[in-house]
Amino acid sequence: MWFHSLLPVLSLLPFASSSSGRVRVNINTGWRFLRSETNLDGLSYDTRPGSPSTSNTEILKQWILPSGNQFIKDPAKRHKRPSNKPKTNVSFAQKIFDDQAWETVNLPHDWAIKGPFYTSGNAPVTGGMGRLPVHGIGWYRRKLAVLPEDEGKSIYLDIDGAMSHAMVWTNGNLVGGWPYPYNSFRLDLTPYLESGEDNQLAIRLDNPTESSRWYPGGGLYRNVWLTKVDPAHVAQYGTFITSRDVSAQSATVDSVIKVENAGSSNKQIEVVTDVHVLEAGGAGQKVASFHSAVLNLASGETGQVNGSIKVSNPALWGPQHPNLYVAVTQLHSENKTLDTYETQFGIRSVSYDADKGLLVNGKHVRIQGVNQHHDLGALGAAFSVRAAERQLEVLRELGCNAIRMSHNPPATELLEMTDRMGFLVVDEVFDMWERQKTTADYHLDFPEWYEPDLRAFLRRDRNHPSVVVWSFGNEVGEQTTGDAGAAVAMRLRDIVRDEDPTRPTTASMNAAEPNMPFPRALDILSLNYQGEGFRDTPAYSGISGRKTKPLYPDFHKAFPDKMLWSSETAAALSTRGTYIFPVTKEISAPVNDSSGGDSKKLQVSSYELYTTDFGSSPDKVFSTQDQNPYVAGEFVWSGWDYLGEPTPYYSARSTYFGIVDLAGFKKDRFYLYQSRWRPDLKMAHILPHWTWPDRAGKTTPVHVFSSADEAELFLNGKSQGRKKKAAYTYRFRWDDVKYQSGELHVVTYKNGSAWAEDTARTAGAAAKLEITADRTAITADGSDLSFITVKVVDSEGITVPEANNAVTFSVSAPGEIVATDNGDPADFTAFLSKKRKAFNGLVLAIVKARGPGEIILTATSESLQGVQTIDPVYYDSSSCEILSVCIASRTRLYLDEPKAILPRNSSTAP
Ligand code: GAL
Repeated sequence: MWFHSLLPVLSLLPFASSSSGRVRVNINTGWRFLRSETNLDGLSYDTRPGSPSTSNTEILKQWILPSGNQFIKDPAKRHKRPSNKPKTNVSFAQKIFDDQAWETVNLPHDWAIKGPFYTSGNAPVTGGMGRLPVHGIGWYRRKLAVLPEDEGKSIYLDIDGAMSHAMVWTNGNLVGGWPYPYNSFRLDLTPYLESGEDNQLAIRLDNPTESSRWYPGGGLYRNVWLTKVDPAHVAQYGTFITSRDVSAQSATVDSVIKVENAGSSNKQIEVVTDVHVLEAGGAGQKVASFHSAVLNLASGETGQVNGSIKVSNPALWGPQHPNLYVAVTQLHSENKTLDTYETQFGIRSVSYDADKGLLVNGKHVRIQGVNQHHDLGALGAAFSVRAAERQLEVLRELGCNAIRMSHNPPATELLEMTDRMGFLVVDEVFDMWERQKTTADYHLDFPEWYEPDLRAFLRRDRNHPSVVVWSFGNEVGEQTTGDAGAAVAMRLRDIVRDEDPTRPTTASMNAAEPNMPFPRALDILSLNYQGEGFRDTPAYSGISGRKTKPLYPDFHKAFPDKMLWSSETAAALSTRGTYIFPVTKEISAPVNDSSGGDSKKLQVSSYELYTTDFGSSPDKVFSTQDQNPYVAGEFVWSGWDYLGEPTPYYSARSTYFGIVDLAGFKKDRFYLYQSRWRPDLKMAHILPHWTWPDRAGKTTPVHVFSSADEAELFLNGKSQGRKKKAAYTYRFRWDDVKYQSGELHVVTYKNGSAWAEDTARTAGAAAKLEITADRTAITADGSDLSFITVKVVDSEGITVPEANNAVTFSVSAPGEIVATDNGDPADFTAFLSKKRKAFNGLVLAIVKARGPGEIILTATSESLQGVQTIDPVYYDSSSCEILSVCIASRTRLYLDEPKAILPRNSSTAP
């Protein structure tokens, strides 16, 4: 069971024991919120192309830039805060402003996800950004209490992510802010706070249209914390723990600990760091201690302690055994503990070999990765530990072992999960540099912010053992601007090396070619789609745009010492459970109305052969990779569907790229990847469904995805032929089957022995609903979730494959339905709606618990018989309270034991 972060904390509660010295308090509850599509306050972070600049608007950038100063290396380049205050005394930031009429919200909060969707052609937010009201200005206000025991402490505001252009006031004073919405940032509130309960925090966000290629969400969409600590403390992201000379017998662990003295007097500080095994409840057995050191720090000074120890018989971190350690650093002065700071880390070695690929602790790990966006479907951008964990669980079942965080820093809790679950991570920071992708995107902020953004990102994430590669850009325009573009790349690369010399760098290339300067700036070559070739097979011949043969060999030849992989492959498209005829005979084809697409219904066939005009089916990708075995692996575009970017139908709301749909239901493609990525799993999967009343006698191809090497298909008991997988093919195809209702059955073999079977049966009329919950016990913290699937089935329990019955959900207190979805990219029913049509037989409800007790969820459908309920969703409130105390007093969020999370019903780890 995971324990989550949304604690019912309204003030600075004395959670930490007095010996610990540091308190980290979650302040997600009790906010007041206002959103406006017009500029009500006369403020702006900066001028912006396209937005009318009026003489009444005051630009506040000069007060915000200094917030990045500690991430700018050259003191001469740091920003000076203006000596005057801004002219505008904005009322929303003042203590006396009455915000009672504003909405009450808890964080993480995404103001756009409730909708409604914009469905018209001239919407202010179009398909690319998800047709939801992400734009506008949002104000968040909350009271903060400074209690007597907080006197003399430094008090910091830690915002894990704010969408976007955050500017923060305390008691009417502009403190600072951070424009880039995906980075975490800290502001020192100490000088602006007063004793008592009446301190006013006010945060202004501004989300432009045309600022993103995908759905960004809007608001304080991640956790927000207050950290109160002695003025002499471990600095923000002040620890860096690395390992070297790693073997099963021993490892050297190096530490760098930065200590900041923000107090007004000099301090002599003893720095002690012990290494413990990380166990369920936190630090377990102590395995080693760094030599203690003493720092004499003048007021305002930051000092550093370096240490090095040997750990014998280390429990190594790796995909199969994600063992973790925790370094507990304590600062002592005059017999008092000033600070206790924990750093989780793993001991592992990773090498990056141009011919062999990636080796973790000396063992080859083929990269079976996916790209993941930050949104969580119906929950929007509002971060949810359980929703993200569910995504990882489904990916684990798929056989996925690596995630590329496309194209921005993820929630830090997600990296804690990849650490615990053993996923390898490409941590990526930017989607663009100086050259824009959309008119109001980050290119506007890049010149002033690239260094603070990059260094802050690296320092935040560099202790995560799951992070194996840093990516400082995705498909940036600078790829093809010759030496000028490569110079920007080198500038960024050098910053990465400066912050973390232990990991290699990359940036993804869909346009840079081997003979251009750009790839020379990278340690690892990350190809997007070029590896398997662009538009190079007959089905794509009529399409305009760049055409290339598979470029793996050319890159490998030009850079024989650099590891090469695909950071994006496929860009295959499909809608779960949708099949469109006729079916192409090719192994890969572009979608259009005569090839796998239906531009009226906004759906793409799920034979899993269709792609964007630059893409390749999974089969084609596999074949090219297998013919170039030095390729370290791939990151599929994409793991899950996400909001926005609904290529090829921009009048829809969400993507067709995912292996898993937006609701978390598996597409057929799931089984194609699983058959390759989990070769030892006995599995076989038939497509399409077998309920086609209008297709009697018509050619209805049957394809089977299986880890077997041979398969025989039977239609109503009659063999349709036994087939072997030919070299470089990855599916069994019977393309000439004539439809007749009844039963399709496949029997597969591997190395001549029986392997796995699957059956598809013709369904009758929809008769009832079947309900299952992913978990029937959830934690009583208002944020844990149960994901509940409703299937429309016939009288024998067979899923009715195209059923679209409207289903209404209700839930007993203390349960609450948070959202519903069905995975249909063209469904514009608001995610908050409790009534939703099933899509191709399935619909999802997401439920949380507001307090202790039993929850009964009911799903009904007017046309269907019966009311179905599931078992009570139950949780235990007492354990949550105890753990709340623990959580608040620790620097890390999860107290759960490390576990390899395997989905139910799955037998072996991939
Ligand atoms: C790539 C891009 C991704 C996504 C994908 C699918 O070019 O890097 O962010 O847009 O194409 O269209």
